[in-house]
Amino acid sequence: MTAQLHDASSIPLDKIDVSDPQLYQDDTYYPYFERLRREDPVHWCPESRYGPYWAVTKYKDIMHIEVNHGIYSSDAGTGGIQIEDQPKDMVRPSFIRMDPPRHDEQRKVVSPIVAPQNLSNMEATIRERTGLVLDGLPCNETFDWVERVSIELTTMMLATLFDFPWEERRKLTYWSDVAIANVNAPEAPVHSEQERFDELKKMAETMAALFNERAQGPPKFDLLSMLAHGEATREMPLLEFIGNLTLLIVGGNDTTRNSMTGGLLALSQFPEQYRKLRDDPALVASLVPEIIRYVTPVIHMRRTAREDTELGGREIRKGDKVVMWYVSGNRDPDAVEDPDSFIIDRPRPRQHLSFGFGIHRCVGNRLAELQLRILWEEILNRYPVIEVVGQAKRTYSNFIHGFRSMPVRIPMH
Ligand code: HEM
Repeated sequence: MTAQLHDASSIPLDKIDVSDPQLYQDDTYYPYFERLRREDPVHWCPESRYGPYWAVTKYKDIMHIEVNHGIYSSDAGTGGIQIEDQPKDMVRPSFIRMDPPRHDEQRKVVSPIVAPQNLSNMEATIRERTGLVLDGLPCNETFDWVERVSIELTTMMLATLFDFPWEERRKLTYWSDVAIANVNAPEAPVHSEQERFDELKKMAETMAALFNERAQGPPKFDLLSMLAHGEATREMPLLEFIGNLTLLIVGGNDTTRNSMTGGLLALSQFPEQYRKLRDDPALVASLVPEIIRYVTPVIHMRRTAREDTELGGREIRKGDKVVMWYVSGNRDPDAVEDPDSFIIDRPRPRQHLSFGFGIHRCVGNRLAELQLRILWEEILNRYPVIEVVGQAKRTYSNFIHGFRSMPVRIPMH
């Protein structure tokens, strides 16, 4: 199947391949998943640029995989978490690409970063910075929301999480872009796996210097200090050091960044919801999880079957690549009422798959929600309306559901 073939109803089922990154850049993937959920929810795709794989499209089947981590492995050695395999000699293990017990040991090292006390300590800083960024925006002039707001705020957050030198914080954004880039996209900062690897090795050099400094000092509440003092992480081999740092940089960056952009886009596409929000700003509490569901910042996660098993009536073989399409599970009408509508006052807004589930459920979910809540509270305090005035440009990727740019305008008030 190519991205040009948008008539999802006429393609033979076995030709449906939802892995083409073009589908996500063009935002044309919906009808394929709609058909798969109805006709073939656990779908075997025999041929794709990433080899054969199962496409799992229903909420309940995705949950089944998430909670059965003994059968469905995330381990870098068995295949990792993306539909695209990392080249064998460049596999970069990190705890998202590990199964228990090592996963649990390493996750435990960094999870205090989002302990309730730490989050409430960070709240005032996040609010102040958000206010400064918003106050610096021009009125009555078109500007790029991604660059001026989403990237700026998430980069600041990353610098805080790592206690990274403030003036050099855009390096973190660059490394995140390098780590997730689809090397075939013309706009990618790197164009081969080797180039990516070389850039990430440079990241490791900078980070190793900071890591060693933190190891000498007393334990502190930043990610590098936690890793440097954690028993399960203080002596990581180079590839694992790169892997875990990349995980923490990407985890806290693109996802939140794209929710900041996608949320504004959704409100502009559903103006009656935007009005409802202006009339009752307390709805920010349920707006935020609805943004995260609706945007679904991570398109898929992949697992590999450790043994023969059964899923939704289909026989999965040991070694099969099994892909959970969160973008589809979040639009499953059997799990979410009227799922294609953006509704900011849903009764159970946190019922979605955007953060995954089970032992790998997003570590940073409360932090991401906090950043988005503050952003929307501060926006509503300042600007009653922000208009999206042109086409948002999306990322060429089947993994990170992202935006490269989105022109907006704040009318003079
Ligand atoms: C809207 C924002 C975010 C979304 C949608 C998101 C999504 C996800 C998803 C889908 C997973 C994998 C879940 C699974 O396999 O079941 C994950 C894991 C993870 N996320 Fe997030 N994330 C977000 C924000 C953050 C932030 C702010 C941080 C950093 C502080 C972060 C750090 C991580 C880490 C470290 C993992 C690995 C957890 C593990 O393997 O145990 N994420 N995230």
